[in-house]
Amino acid sequence: MCGIIGYLGNHEASPFLVEALKRLEYRGYDSAGIATVNNGKLDRRRAVGKLVNLSDVLVHTPLAGKSGIGHTRWATHGEPSELNAHPHRAGNVAVVHNGIIENFRALRRELAEKGDLPLTDTDTETVAMLTSRYMADGLTPVQAVQKTLGRLEGAFALLFLFEAEQDLMIAARKGSPLAIGHGDGENYVGSDALALAPLTDRITYLEEGDWAVVTRRDVTIYDASGTLANREMRRVSLDKAQVDKAGHKHFMAKEIAEQPQVIGNAVKHYFGDSGQTISLPDGGIDFTGVDRLVMVACGTAYYACLTAKYWFEQIARLPVEVDVASEFRYREPPVTDRTVAVFVSQSGETADTLAALRYCRDKADRIVSVVNVAESSIARESDLALPILAGTEIGVASTKAFSCQLTVLLTLALEAGRQRGTLDEDRYESLVAALRGLPAVLGRALDNNAAAEELSLQIAEAQDILFLGRGLMYPLALEGALKMKEISYIHAEAYASGELKHGPIALIDKHVPVVVMAPRDALFDKTVSNMQEVMARGGKVLLISDLAGIEAAQDGVWRSIEMPSVDPLLTPILYALPAQLLAYHTAVAKGTDVDQPRNLAKSVTVE
Ligand code: F6R
Repeated sequence: MCGIIGYLGNHEASPFLVEALKRLEYRGYDSAGIATVNNGKLDRRRAVGKLVNLSDVLVHTPLAGKSGIGHTRWATHGEPSELNAHPHRAGNVAVVHNGIIENFRALRRELAEKGDLPLTDTDTETVAMLTSRYMADGLTPVQAVQKTLGRLEGAFALLFLFEAEQDLMIAARKGSPLAIGHGDGENYVGSDALALAPLTDRITYLEEGDWAVVTRRDVTIYDASGTLANREMRRVSLDKAQVDKAGHKHFMAKEIAEQPQVIGNAVKHYFGDSGQTISLPDGGIDFTGVDRLVMVACGTAYYACLTAKYWFEQIARLPVEVDVASEFRYREPPVTDRTVAVFVSQSGETADTLAALRYCRDKADRIVSVVNVAESSIARESDLALPILAGTEIGVASTKAFSCQLTVLLTLALEAGRQRGTLDEDRYESLVAALRGLPAVLGRALDNNAAAEELSLQIAEAQDILFLGRGLMYPLALEGALKMKEISYIHAEAYASGELKHGPIALIDKHVPVVVMAPRDALFDKTVSNMQEVMARGGKVLLISDLAGIEAAQDGVWRSIEMPSVDPLLTPILYALPAQLLAYHTAVAKGTDVDQPRNLAKSVTVE
């Protein structure tokens, strides 16, 4: 959701800002813009659409200056247009913003009474107008920003730049993350450490309510009450390999291919090089004293939770309630001190998931998060933050983060089963061994890349696609459909196989590919019966199964993809791969923007 960058240094700011915006573009790509101060003069360039359009504008009308701010936008208020693009300017103030100012209409009315009228449809412009009004009333930039911050309701990360101030940026954080990067005689501000990665590895994360006065030599941080705040500076090293495509055509292809390695890393992290026991930080979780888990997340992370429900209930006999965060947070669900609340989020910044976590804060026995970004808000506000170790995920469609989330959640379910005595030792050990063997199995599953590519040429012709699965394959079918629709823009739906005849079977005809995910497990025969019902109505079935499953059920299917065999409990992690490969190649065949699909953004920091 919107990327923010700021630079104060001794070099021309524009090239730094544009390079950093490239690394932030995954957060939003409706428009981009930069502002600089040159010889005291504040000026800006903006362009609708992708960053390359801004680069073109800068070729024809360059922007000089050694201090500047930049923004890549995911539109909330106001259509994507140059007028609504950030930085917004009012008088001597330019502002970039990530988040939503909830009371901007009231502030606008107040400003209008003083004759200050907006030019855009955005909430952000109101922030610039308010600060500019306070400066016109005689306040310094720092005083004006402090006063402005006190008036704003909602969630935001803000960065301000001022006419006639060559050595000043002011950053503020409430609800949306912001990091300060420390250089030598230079300082930077960014939405995340990734934006700052090639510039510095010395990072200070602003905390909730913090605001910072940044000059070339100093960074002074205040908390919400205006008191000086001492925030730790950390070394955050992001491997360069994590932020380039390493020869792949898209980040998504690279991230799919990385799964054997990152899942191997996650398994080693929790089980060590050779051990059987799970090591959890911060006292771990006592699963014996609780009577249920509540799991909350959004999108793909929600499907990881749905999968984990099957695991916790089967393996540990622990009831699990799963909800999407946007519903959970307003439902006022009962949460007791015998509930462990688990929040799953790749970014660790998803606004609804964070709000759901805060709802559970004083109610649940323990707040546990499963996150990819260790410094994220969700990680920091949890009693126990469990890393998934997927490495930076740039493709907007989540792939390796999903399979790593599954790996960590299965690990937790095993631990719960062991503690609660519902998993006997032999079974526990065989599952740990299966997890250790998973990277090799995933590597073999990736051999289906060419088959998926070839199949996708025909799938790309479809208007609608159905995904079916039973048991552990049901949440995966949901994830397969989500992946397909978000990057190929083909309408895709998923159903529990047994639900088909309760309505959705009416959708079946020869034009609708039906992807059936069915390893040869205890539910296989039931799924095959549902598959027969589809084929009897002319449906075109793509069966994804192991050799035994394909041999048993391939008669009459349109096509099949053969998967390696694995312990049935591990199949969701394995079968995520063909679902991702199908979506990826279908999107490529359709020529869509795979890494930055339309209307989406990577980190959803607004509700
Ligand atoms: C889909 C996808 C999204 C995210 C969702 C939650 O491919 O990536 O559905 O899973 O927006 O994001 P996080 O995990 O960052 O909370």
